[in-house]
Amino acid sequence: MFRDDFVWGVASSAYQIEGRDANDGAGAMIWDKFIAEGGTKDGYGAEVACDHMHRYKEDFALMRLMGIKAYRFSISWARLIPEGTGKVNEKAVALYRDMILEMKKNGIEPYLTMYHWEFPQVLQDRGGWLNEEVIQWFGEYAKVVAENFSDICENFITLNEPECFVGIGHMSGWHAPGLHLPYKDVFQIAHNALRAHGQAVINLRKYACRPIKVGYAPTCGMAYPYSNKPEDVEAARKVLFGFYQPMDNWTWNVAWFSDPVFLGHYPKEGLEKFAEYLPEITEEDMELIHQPLDFMGQNIYNGYYIRAGKDGEPEFVDRAPGFPKTGSDWPVTPEAFYYGIRFLTERYPLPLYITENGMSCHDNISADGRVHDPNRITFLDSYIGAMQRASDEGADVRGYFLWTFLDNFEWSDGYKQRFGIIYVDFATQQRIVKDSAFWYQKVIETNGGILSMNQANKEILFLDPVCTHNIWGGTKLREEFGYPVEGDDIGECWGISAHPNGDGTIRNGAFSGMKLSAVWKEHPEVFGNYDCDRFPLLTKIIDARDDLSIQVHPDDDYAKVHENGSFGKTECWYVLDCKEDTKMVMGHHAKTKEELVKAIENDDYDHLLNKFD
Ligand code: NOJ
Repeated sequence: MFRDDFVWGVASSAYQIEGRDANDGAGAMIWDKFIAEGGTKDGYGAEVACDHMHRYKEDFALMRLMGIKAYRFSISWARLIPEGTGKVNEKAVALYRDMILEMKKNGIEPYLTMYHWEFPQVLQDRGGWLNEEVIQWFGEYAKVVAENFSDICENFITLNEPECFVGIGHMSGWHAPGLHLPYKDVFQIAHNALRAHGQAVINLRKYACRPIKVGYAPTCGMAYPYSNKPEDVEAARKVLFGFYQPMDNWTWNVAWFSDPVFLGHYPKEGLEKFAEYLPEITEEDMELIHQPLDFMGQNIYNGYYIRAGKDGEPEFVDRAPGFPKTGSDWPVTPEAFYYGIRFLTERYPLPLYITENGMSCHDNISADGRVHDPNRITFLDSYIGAMQRASDEGADVRGYFLWTFLDNFEWSDGYKQRFGIIYVDFATQQRIVKDSAFWYQKVIETNGGILSMNQANKEILFLDPVCTHNIWGGTKLREEFGYPVEGDDIGECWGISAHPNGDGTIRNGAFSGMKLSAVWKEHPEVFGNYDCDRFPLLTKIIDARDDLSIQVHPDDDYAKVHENGSFGKTECWYVLDCKEDTKMVMGHHAKTKEELVKAIENDDYDHLLNKFD
């Protein structure tokens, strides 16, 4: 099961949702130019996107309603420092501070990502990530971030998916800044980005006004084995941390981007393979890159299917025709999530947060006005289940940020991909809660208890109740209900109860013979990890030979004080059977205490009591 303090969140990035405002003071950044030059699907840009910069209050209120506990968002470097260095845009400081405070007001813990691909254009014109000055530029940006937000935000992430912005931005040119640079330059960019990360960690901590937590959020295709034979598992691990990508996709590599950060060195195999393209790498560089971190983030979406070939070397296995895919055509591979988490936590010595995971679907508004997205629920159920499996087996996973809350601008794909659990009608900016958001709400509420994997083989528990003898008791509990109890004074049957006075015994299944209170305590998952200090239900059947009187407490506080910390008893009583002429008495007619005392002294119960048939 997940830890009690497991962080259930959603993730987003600034440019994909915020939108712009002519007076916001933001500087231009590389995506503005890339879009203007026609780099995205159908020419769409993110001038409005989800208009989140004007609607964040409603968006965070909706997040709260969905029970979301944490939010990974990014701030835009060029919005905060329009020229990339130097003058700070106070409007941006005010906007982001208000956003963070609003999150917190809604009980949502902020996780701030510094760089989610929005490089300031002014600095791009000076060489961008290729210019070694970027280490100072990014360091200065980190200082500004720490000075302006560390009093209200505790968690920071430096870079989002360096594999992606280095490779797709500078090699295949499919993302901004849309470049096709030679390998040598791309290796330099990767090295600069890692050094900039290190400098940012130093400055975030140095200029923060209190101790903060810092992490890093790389990505990559994971790898999962064809079978659970040790040789296949080993082959998958080898692919995950090895160098099997063709050269024109070399940045898609876990070890190159994570070993230096988490272990303090580049992988030996890579140093040999890439030797001819590498920049000078010094000991000081490695020290700078290898800063102590509080957590490891990882964005995971899918993975390669791998087995050990005849020579023991990994082999990529073709998936069967019709293999399930997401709207973006990515394979649905929950096994890769399980193995990815296992492999990563085995290799790197830090707690893991899944900083992104989710799927795009072809969502649509149905005739009932709602958005039903069962595919996404199936996807998330299997992925989160896989995460639970890894965690149950010992992987230190501390949090999960679903990508994403609102449908948004999916970079080069424009608005073609809907990744959100909240549908956004981009023409009207209306938000519609998708079924998956309601489902995720339940996952959070039960700490994973409603996942299918926790429902499997769940039997209905039947109980042998506790029956009690009372001077007013009768015989119906034996004669009519069939409980095997001797005597003519059987007053109560504690039917469904874990109360110390009548703790039922499980009659069937895996827990047979255990007291209900013990199953409740030792197996919270059976009850969906319901958050309550005791079993919350008590069902009794009572049989009285003559009169029966019931007292109820007005509320929890009264009950706690007057009955040993008992619950207030929200009670519901049904009369199942009674003699023909039975009267029910509820309350009395006395209007004052004096009237009540007098009626009692005079034995005048006929007038005092409120009776009915
Ligand atoms: C990775 C990126 O960090 C995010 O910006 C993107 O939208 C999602 N994955 C989905 O492609």
